[in-house]
Amino acid sequence: MKAIEIRDKYLNFFKNHGHAVIPSAPLIPENDPSVLFTTAGMQPLVPYLLGQKHPEGTRLTGYQKCLRTNDIDEVGDNRHLTFFEMLGNWSLGDYFKEESIAMSFKFLTKELGIPKDKLSVTVFKGDEDCPRDEVAANAWKNTGISEDHIYYYGKDDNWWIAGEEGPCGPDTEMFFDTGKPACSKNCQPSCDCGKYVEIWNNVFMEYFKDKNGYTKLKQKNVDTGLGLERMAMLLQGKETPFDTELFEPVMKKLEELQKINIIESRRIVAEHLRSSMMIISDGGRPSNLDRGYVLRRLIRRLIRHMNKLQIELNQLSTLIDINVETLSEMYPELIKNKEIIKSVIIEEKDKFVKTLAKGEREFQKEINKLNGNKIISGQVVFKLYDTYGFPPEVTKELAIENGYEVDLKEFEELFKKHQEKSRVGSEVKFKGGLAEQNEVTIKYHTATHLLNAALKQVIGKDAHQRGSNITVDRMRFDFNCDHKLTTEEKQQLEDLVNEWIKQKLPVTKEEMNKEDAIKSGAECMFIEKYPDIVTVYTIGDVSKELCGGPHVKNTGELGKFKIKKEESSSSGVRRIKAILIDK
Ligand code: ALA
Repeated sequence: MKAIEIRDKYLNFFKNHGHAVIPSAPLIPENDPSVLFTTAGMQPLVPYLLGQKHPEGTRLTGYQKCLRTNDIDEVGDNRHLTFFEMLGNWSLGDYFKEESIAMSFKFLTKELGIPKDKLSVTVFKGDEDCPRDEVAANAWKNTGISEDHIYYYGKDDNWWIAGEEGPCGPDTEMFFDTGKPACSKNCQPSCDCGKYVEIWNNVFMEYFKDKNGYTKLKQKNVDTGLGLERMAMLLQGKETPFDTELFEPVMKKLEELQKINIIESRRIVAEHLRSSMMIISDGGRPSNLDRGYVLRRLIRRLIRHMNKLQIELNQLSTLIDINVETLSEMYPELIKNKEIIKSVIIEEKDKFVKTLAKGEREFQKEINKLNGNKIISGQVVFKLYDTYGFPPEVTKELAIENGYEVDLKEFEELFKKHQEKSRVGSEVKFKGGLAEQNEVTIKYHTATHLLNAALKQVIGKDAHQRGSNITVDRMRFDFNCDHKLTTEEKQQLEDLVNEWIKQKLPVTKEEMNKEDAIKSGAECMFIEKYPDIVTVYTIGDVSKELCGGPHVKNTGELGKFKIKKEESSSSGVRRIKAILIDK
């Protein structure tokens, strides 16, 4: 069964079970600066998992383009991918464990035709936060899965959360038995030998985790995720995702073009090219920071592997054409974005080619200096990055190919320091370009903090700043909010800000460790954009924000606050323009 058929079957199945089909969000999260890329289908749904009403109802299904880069240097083996598609179904306070498990079982066995004996499942075994999941285990028994195919594991395996904080809960995972011989008497789904392949994860989300621990969510949700490429591979009886129709055409072309036969390199080129194309299509561009840096690494690594295969780099255009042809049935946006994808990748290739050969020579020089020492220092990895644009994994690969290791930890430290410096630089630029700092703009700056705090009281504590722009004539403030503000809400906002101005609240400034600042509840827009030591501005007991300043000393200096306009900025983001009138 082709991947697109699996996707269609999935969406139809859940549609027939009362779910509304929602479109994939872009790979680059809209209005969520806290994550670089969408890594799971639930991510765009977080507000609804936390209780906000979804316009399409309480049962949703969809496919989501995802990118995970934590295993980027594993790509090249027989299973790791950076870009993948996750099929999902969600219950927002609607059905829970029994129905979710019954539907998953029915889909796998009836729609996909997987014999039930090929399935094994795992459930949460319980701990101090949450009891053993007998409900899930019983629901599995009711499907007819034999008891010796049900395994109980702890939080490491059967608990799901995106990152460190957020909605979470115990999960149940489904595994497909490939029929390979067991690696030992103890071989079971948690084993990595390849006999069991995880195919689907149903998360029973009823907790919210933050720095203080777990609290119960307002509603019990289900969040599921099924990896499409993997399912296609298994149903097609293929050994790796690279053997499915999603990668086959480009893999074949690489084989045809290569002068040296290296399977790992072909996979890296095919995989990184697909991911790069998807990121560019969703608006990503190479740079030295954050998302752009991930894209840069993907493109540069694939270029080096084309070199290893001795494939002319001008073949990139043909490879992109092949991928557009292969993938556009599933991602039609690739057709429209084909030319921009080509020009971004080719431009990045041209940049890298200029320094690649020199960097490789420099690498050789450095290893000659090592005199038998087998570890290349983080300083050298950093120099290759900084001077020749070598992503660390490229240097690591070069090292391994030559029988050396690299000190990536030291590199990471140097890299972090370097990024902090560039960020501080860009913030200064931002301030200088957009807001001259004078008496008036400083007042608006403080008013911005008051408005941000007032929004938390009037709209909800999840209303956060999405952007801000100040001139001598007005302030402009963007924030997330799912509706047009009512006249009453606007009035309440004005009243609150004016009340705080009237109270003549002191504005104080202190420097602290970033972690402590966040722990103390300070508001902050782009946490990763701040250095380790941050400045926090506190206004009376109404506002606390990470901010470079400057601010007035006392809110009494601000005059009268008036909202002039409230409008949409982009999807889910509202914009307020406001002024301060001298008393
Ligand atoms: N959000 C869950 C996962 O990514 C379904 O596995």
